Amino acid sequence: MRSYDLIYKKRQGEKLSREEISFFIRGYVEGRIPDYQASAFLMAAFLKGLDDEETYYLTMEMLASGDSLDLGDLEGICVDKHSTGGVGDKTTLTLAPLLASLGLKVAKMSGRGLGHTGGTIDKLEAIPGFRTELSEEEFKGQVNRIGLSLISQTKNLVPADKLLYSLRDVTATVDHPSLIASSIMSKKLAAGSDYILLDVKVGSGAFLKTLDEAIHLARIMVSIGEMAGKKTRALITSMDQPLGYMVGNSLEIQEAMGILGDGGAEDLRELTLALAAQLLLMTGKSTDYKDAYKEAEAQINNGLALESFFEMVEAQGGKIKDMAVASFQEVIFVEEDCYLAGFDTQMVGEAAALLGAGRQTMEDEIDLTAGIYLPHKIGDKLSKGELLARLYTSRPGVFDDARKRLLEALSFSKDQPQKVELIRALVYKEGEEIKEVLWS
Ligand code: URA
Repeated sequence: MRSYDLIYKKRQGEKLSREEISFFIRGYVEGRIPDYQASAFLMAAFLKGLDDEETYYLTMEMLASGDSLDLGDLEGICVDKHSTGGVGDKTTLTLAPLLASLGLKVAKMSGRGLGHTGGTIDKLEAIPGFRTELSEEEFKGQVNRIGLSLISQTKNLVPADKLLYSLRDVTATVDHPSLIASSIMSKKLAAGSDYILLDVKVGSGAFLKTLDEAIHLARIMVSIGEMAGKKTRALITSMDQPLGYMVGNSLEIQEAMGILGDGGAEDLRELTLALAAQLLLMTGKSTDYKDAYKEAEAQINNGLALESFFEMVEAQGGKIKDMAVASFQEVIFVEEDCYLAGFDTQMVGEAAALLGAGRQTMEDEIDLTAGIYLPHKIGDKLSKGELLARLYTSRPGVFDDARKRLLEALSFSKDQPQKVELIRALVYKEGEEIKEVLWS
């Protein structure tokens, strides 16, 4: 077999066999196939597509490139959730403790933020002392003891994805459904849970901008998960505006505690409860969506979910009371009476990154105190002089660019625009079929 022939075959739009895909992944990971051939292969796959079988083989070959976690020795039902990435998405921080308080086990590996999107590990590192690297024994021991642990991805978790993702990032081949699906699902399968719930983001802050594209991606991922023997579902949810009110690492930790405590942003609370309810249904702990939702809500109202959050922080060495606050703040006020008409959510993420909350390359340092408070949602009436946004940073000289980018991201209107639907669709397997239901 020659790499050239494989690239040529895909360029002609022909289907690749499992052996051919295996040859490519192994050859690339083991250094026999150079970056320029791998790039050509990725572009051919991007332009000609991979069918469901090829995408499944690609996922399984990527999975085989590294270590998988065996969670079989944990007591109870292990569940996992994955968001395709967004702005202000701190749902893992609210959902994982909620699930643990409901008796499910969450042994979860998370990633860091890149570009305009945030990552759970950066958020957790805003808590001084919080250890995101635990040995497998510590990790599993903690999950058995308190029901949850959140750690960073181990070094040998799907090395093929680390290599391919870096290459996709610089060859304009990130936003292809089969490539995204194989990247995400190889990591989810390696992480070992039997139940996988995907939160596929759609809208101006997501990789995929239309509902049809997001449903297409969700169907591929659900199909891969189910073919690999894992119960898998996907909710398609809006990223047409930031989730919650806060964007930025320590700000999002504070906001997550608020949701589990005495209230907070309605959208973040609703998404947390909807995801929890889906997992209660998937695991058979509940048979009715409304009952499951209420059961989850009760665990927030009675304080047990927040207690789980604090237990995890303490078990991993974090000290919430020592969290740093930003040295500088700047406020932006509404200039005239109007409605908030829209966000370019990606640009909001970029504005937060300009304040120091995000990185452009994995090597960049971030300012964990930096971020933005945005108290309004699309459709809200705004009055002249009220608070539009508050910017936070500990870096001098960054406000001007960040303010400019944020203001470019916001649009206003005289007439009231429609509110955004948060949950758009559910994708799941029934019998032999992958089905979708639109939410409203
Ligand atoms: N997240 C991933 O892990 N991989 C992708 O390709 C896109 C989003």
